[in-house]
Amino acid sequence: MKSLSATLALIAIVVEAGLRFPCSTLTFQRLDPAGQPGSLPSAHVHHIVGGNAFNASMSGDVGARATCTTCQMADDFSNYWTATLYFKHPTNGSYHRVTPTPVIPLLGGSDGAKGGLTVYYTQFDLNRDSLNQQKIKAFPPGFRMVVGSPGATTKNHAGLSYQCMTGTNRGAITNTIPTKPCSGGIFTTHHFPPCWDGKNLDSPDHMSHMYNTVTSEGFTNAPACPASHPVRVPQVTFETVWDTSKFNSMWPSGGANPFVWSFEGSATGYGTHADYLFGWKDDSLQKAMDKSECFYDGCGSITKQKMAVANQCTVKDMVGEATEGSCSASLLAVYKPFPKISPGMAISFNIP
Ligand SMILES: *[C@@H]1O[C@H](CO)[C@@H](O)[C@H](O)[C@H]1NC(C)=O
Ligand SMILES: *[C@@H]1O[C@H](CO)[C@@H](O)[C@H](O)[C@H]1NC(C)=O
Repeated sequence: MKSLSATLALIAIVVEAGLRFPCSTLTFQRLDPAGQPGSLPSAHVHHIVGGNAFNASMSGDVGARATCTTCQMADDFSNYWTATLYFKHPTNGSYHRVTPTPVIPLLGGSDGAKGGLTVYYTQFDLNRDSLNQQKIKAFPPGFRMVVGSPGATTKNHAGLSYQCMTGTNRGAITNTIPTKPCSGGIFTTHHFPPCWDGKNLDSPDHMSHMYNTVTSEGFTNAPACPASHPVRVPQVTFETVWDTSKFNSMWPSGGANPFVWSFEGSATGYGTHADYLFGWKDDSLQKAMDKSECFYDGCGSITKQKMAVANQCTVKDMVGEATEGSCSASLLAVYKPFPKISPGMAISFNIP
């Protein structure tokens, strides 16, 4: 039995190449260097993780410039962000920011990650690599992409989904936001496209330099890339758990879903979207993609840092508005996340 399980373990190691790791929350700010570069502030509040080179606009080799990261992989100075989820009070209309909590399970545990999200770089599907099938090319310095669109009113991209959690059970995948209270919170997933045009670090809509060939939900292999976007890149995915549970008692039975993104958008939640800005140091991501050694809790060539260290990485408040307040767990920061405001203008914020 011992030799059989040793053999199985060896097979498992040989076919796996991909990364999956926690990143703690870096900041909540109205900044969006991929979707709205240079806007200070950007249109809506984001939940941001990753390296400390994060800024209203970012260019060049982020991996060479950043000095710390909230991600477990110590060479990963990329930034990853999504809109922030808010509870919109059903009767008085006030907005209360929902706190993200680390995704579980993570093999090896989330190791004390604070908030944040889980990042994946996969090659084939959740368990297998594609080293014998096609070359996966890591992103170049300066690369960024956006998936999804805040204005969407119908499903516009496979892989942008919600799950209504019961405890740690994630429940069925839907493309619309849960319409009933979820005792374990709302789980959101953002899968990015796997095909790149091989030339442009960005495009006017921040999307058309990429092409999606995946048509189903979950971690599936992407069908071949088209001639227009021939370069196969790692399939990047974010998973976030939003701890909506403490608001459920304020959700009247039979009432409409009170959870909205920071841009509000369609009540269906189809506007869910995410942003990625590459910032791995040197060729560390390419090295990881070229080997069958990285998955879940093991990764030979990449240094993992303790999350207690990652948690110390911070950025300045560049927008100068409160999105969190000095919140205790029970304190609800009343915050209007999407007023029309001019840069530098103070926006209404109060703590009950
Ligand atoms: C952010 O950008 C501003 C303006 O270009 C610059 O002064 C500042 O040093 C940058 N901060 C970081 C952390 O890169
Ligand atoms: C709305 O109700 C919530 C929950 O009782 C409370 O925390 C918040 O201060 C109220 N906001 C306004 C603007 O009345």
